[in-house]
Amino acid sequence: MAVHRTTTSKINLAFAKDVDEGLSKAFKTLPSRYFYDLRGDKIFQEIMHMPEYYLTNCEYEIFMHRAGDLLRALQMNGDGFDLVEFGAGDGYKTRVLIKELLREGADFRYVPIDISGDVLAALKWELKRDFPDLEVETLHAEYFTALQNLREQSDRPKLVLFIGSSIGNFPEERTKAFLAALYEKLNAGDQVLLGYDLRKNPHVILQAYNDAAGITKRFNMNLLQRINRELGANFDLGRFTHYASYDPQSGFARSYLVSLQSQEVSIKALDKYFHFAEGECIHTEISRKYTVGQMVAFVEEAGFRLKEHFYDRRTYFVDTLIEKAP
Ligand code: AVI
Repeated sequence: MAVHRTTTSKINLAFAKDVDEGLSKAFKTLPSRYFYDLRGDKIFQEIMHMPEYYLTNCEYEIFMHRAGDLLRALQMNGDGFDLVEFGAGDGYKTRVLIKELLREGADFRYVPIDISGDVLAALKWELKRDFPDLEVETLHAEYFTALQNLREQSDRPKLVLFIGSSIGNFPEERTKAFLAALYEKLNAGDQVLLGYDLRKNPHVILQAYNDAAGITKRFNMNLLQRINRELGANFDLGRFTHYASYDPQSGFARSYLVSLQSQEVSIKALDKYFHFAEGECIHTEISRKYTVGQMVAFVEEAGFRLKEHFYDRRTYFVDTLIEKAP
């Protein structure tokens, strides 16, 4: 998922610094954005197709069945708009949205933004194959830099997609800062479709992060392998396991890597050893589940006006349309 990918030029220094900081804390942490190297991206594709990971299918279903309603709610009145996507990834869900919007006769160009040039090139190739008449402009940059450039280039109205519950991976302060920065970078009349996961039976949520086949475990373990590969560490994967939890009161799903024994791990790039006690946990990720009311409070605090909610048939997931009021 491109939302979390870092640029290759900065990766070693930034990665080394973040690993050092995270593993030096009293309660060890590693940032989830480092899940997404080439291998992590591939494992995430597997996650999206796991039977337990309902999020992908829910949003797919919303796009498949509600694209016409979305188009009407946008009130573009036949004017052309830019469909801008933050962290486009492989475009699996967006492709169905594009297909349905085209079927409804919408006039738009698609502008995926990602900090991986490879991801964008692959996506552009596939979209040209599937939708030869669709205008696609890829933007290889950080989201807000790209948005600023886009704003300077044209004043066509925008629909920004920030989907897939990526916002759930942000801590609360970052969620607020992200929404405020997004509001600031948009023109009046621009709209945002925000996809996030809703609270539901905690068993359903926990299983999505603790799948029977161990794919999520592999996803987390890849972080240790990545530290081995890129920073010359000697994490022994047989000495760690994965633990997932979900707290229905706060709505936080949390993932951890757990040391199975007392051990020292060396990280050459840092010229340091780190001690792990038996049972000690490294916190790797939060995947926050919201009530609609909570998210509406956040978006309104950032200045947005609520337009409409689009739910899947089980109300497991929602895409909320908001706008910067004209
Ligand atoms: C990318 N993000 C929305 C996923 C999630 O559900 O938090 C990442 C993920 N982590 C484990 N499974 C999926």
